[in-house]
This record gives sequence, C-alpha cells and structure tokens, in this order.
Amino acid sequence: MATSQRRRMRRNAENGLFTKPSNGDFMKNILVTGGCGFIGSNFIHYLLEQPDFTGRIINVDKLTYAGNPENLAGIAERFSERYDFIKADICDREAMSEIFNNYKIDAVCHFAAESHVDRSIAEPDSFIKTNIFGTFNLLELSRNRVALFHHISTDEVYGSLGKDGFFTEQTPYRPNSPYSASKASSDHLVRAYNKTYSLPVTISNCSNNYGPYQFPEKLIPLIILNSLEGKSLPVYGDGRNIRDWLYVEDHCRAVWLIMKNGKRGETYNIGGNCEMRNIDVVRMICDIIDEMVPRDDSMLRRDLITFVKDRPGHDLRYAIDFSKLQRELGWVPDESFESGIRKTIKWHIDNKGWVDRVKSGEYMSWIERHYNL
Ligand code: NAD
Ligand code: TYD
Repeated sequence: MATSQRRRMRRNAENGLFTKPSNGDFMKNILVTGGCGFIGSNFIHYLLEQPDFTGRIINVDKLTYAGNPENLAGIAERFSERYDFIKADICDREAMSEIFNNYKIDAVCHFAAESHVDRSIAEPDSFIKTNIFGTFNLLELSRNRVALFHHISTDEVYGSLGKDGFFTEQTPYRPNSPYSASKASSDHLVRAYNKTYSLPVTISNCSNNYGPYQFPEKLIPLIILNSLEGKSLPVYGDGRNIRDWLYVEDHCRAVWLIMKNGKRGETYNIGGNCEMRNIDVVRMICDIIDEMVPRDDSMLRRDLITFVKDRPGHDLRYAIDFSKLQRELGWVPDESFESGIRKTIKWHIDNKGWVDRVKSGEYMSWIERHYNL
C-alpha cells in the first residue's frame, strides 16, 4: 500500500471516518488468526468464494484441541495460489513477527481465542494468555503496518440481561466469566490502539453461533451428537437461560461487510434475532432428529434430557440489538433458527467421518472430567 494511502487511512481512522471502498480490493493479504476453529474455518470457506475478494488468506493457528485442519480439507488444493496455513501461537512474538515480515499483511481478522466458558472456569490461564496477551502481540505487530485490524468478540462482554432489554454498542461492559473478562480486556486493548496509535480497527460483538465444524463441547453440537447416539442430553440448571442464536454463515457475511465498509474505530453488534431458552433449543433438536432419523424402538429423544448441576455465574439472558449494523451496512440474518438448525443437523448426519475423528482423546477426556462420567 502506498504511503499516501496509508496516511489518508490513518487520518480517517483518527476522525472515526473511513472513505468507503466499494469492495475488498484494499485487502490483498488477509491474516486470519484461529482459522482452523469453528467460526474461523467457516469464514475462510466463505471469503474465498466471494467475488469481491481476490486476495490471499494467511491462516495462523496454534492447533489447540479446538483447531482442526480437517475443517479446511481441500482448501489448500483448490486455492493453492490464495491460501497459506502456518502453525503458530499468537503469543509467540518472534514467530508472529516473522509472518508479518514475510507477507505484506494488509488486514488482520482476529478469531483466535480460547472460547469455551466452562473451560475458562476450570482452567483460566490459557484464556488470559491467548485472549489478552495474544491480542496485544497482534496489535503491536499491526501498528503502523495494516490498513485494518478486525477483532472478533462476543456479546458476553456485556454480562447478563434480566427479562427485558437488549445489548447495544453503548451497553457498559460487565463480564461474568474468565472467558468473557478476557474477551472484554482484548476489546479494550483494540479500542485503545485505535485511540492512541490510530490503528484502523473494527470490532464485532456477536451472539452464540452454531453450524458446521463446531467443536462438540458447545451446547448445540453436543446435543446433536448425543441425540444421534442415544446418550443423555445435559441441560444446566432449569434450562431457562436464554441465548440469541446466529447461523455461522450469517456471522461470516456480517464480518466481511464490516471489514469492507464498517466505520473505523467502531463496534458493531451482530445478532440472530432469535432468543431461545436452552430447554427449547434442546427439545427442538430432539424433535427434528426424531423426524429425520426415527429410532427403531420409537423412543423419543426428548426422554434423554437430563437436568444437571448449573454453571457457576451462569448468565441468564443474552439479547442483541443489531440495528446499527442493519442501518449502516444493510445486514440482517438470512437464516431462522428452524432453517439453520435443520441445515446443521443434516450436516452432522452427512459428515459422520468428521464427527468420529473429532471425538478423539481430548474431547472424550473433557466430557469425562466435566460431566463426571
Ligand atoms: P474455537 O475455539 O472453535 O476456535 C478457536 C481457534 O483459535 C482454534 O482453531 C484454536 O486452535 C485457535 N487458537 C487458540 N489459541 C491460539 C493461539 N494462542 N494462537 C493461535 N491460534 C490459537 O472458537 P470459535 O467458536 O470459532 O470462536 C472464534 C472467535 O469468535 C473467538 O474469538 C470467540 O471469542 C468469538 N465468538 C465466538 C462465538 C461462538 O458462539 N462460538 C460467539 C461470539 C464470538
Ligand atoms: P455454550 O454452547 O457453552 O455457549 P455459551 O456459554 O458461550 O453461551 O452454552 C450455551 C448455553 O447452553 C449456556 O446457557 C450453557 C448451556 N449448556 C447446557 O445447558 N448444557 C451443556 O452441556 C452445555 C455445554 C451448555
């Protein structure tokens, strides 16, 4: 990128303004962190198919238990000129510095994180390291270098809602778990690098995602797999906690729109317009699986539901007001929960090989530890 263009972008970032590019042409080389995880891999699949992205993706992933190269099977062959994978830890400044030096990175899309609330309660250390220190490393390396740093965050930074209300971009941060506290810290660092160093940033805070390639320790894939296998379906507490659910491809579309046209220095909430109690999510999955693959013994999957000990500090309700994203960038979710969950269940049935391989040692030992099996 020419120095004059970089200077103009910096000035715009300082003013909170951005001369809107009509497409993604200013991002030739995009560094995607955590691209072997659930949302990152969906994003890579999505972005490489977009007509307004002709550049290259450099996917950096440490391959923790949650990172699975099989999520991107075939991508390196199909897009050999436009995709590179590098196994590295975002906390390793030297390794990351080498990547920034070897590629002329124009934009960073930062997904890499420890992402599971229950693990953050059991073992918080890696959350602090990766989510806070790892983000700090990337920000330092991006300073004076990239045209955009897009930070992927969560609605959980806002804490918990009572019966009414929605999270807006103005809602004060009140994180309740080590996971959400570490994500909140990283959001603050990203904001500070924009204010202090004029790094052009955008931040998106999204509600709960579901869809293909999600590691089956999270509610929806866990319930789908256990239902298919006739195992018990653990519901925390009384099952009345509410989450807003978003199909992962809708999230990817929102991220790409924000990267192209979002105002620099700003935050955008992303939501599914789909609040549901956990127990209703689980019942719906049971009913759809009963319809798609009826059991030989005609037993109903709902009978497998088991109420288990609640999560400590369990947030009651999340609900997102995404009117800013709708108003400014014209985004609304395409999928309803019914259409998205049907696709997701079908994907799990059609991809038994992926499912079987994911249920490897680390997955089984977490399930045993966490659910006292
Ligand atoms: P995930 O756990 O499935 O994937 C995380 C990826 O990051 C994995 O591939 C892992 O190997 C990689 N990673 C972890 N530590 C790393 C490190 N130190 N260096 C390099 N790579 C590392 O997570 P996800 O569900 O895909 O979430 C992606 C992002 O989206 C996270 O930042 C999360 O906070 C955010 N988010 C997730 C949801 C959701 O519902 N899953 C909702 C809102 C926001
Ligand atoms: P989860 O998928 O872990 O996402 P998050 O905690 O980030 O919202 O959990 C979604 C909801 O489902 C949450 O309220 C906790 C609940 N839950 C269960 O009831 N049983 C389970 O086995 C799991 C993993 C989650």
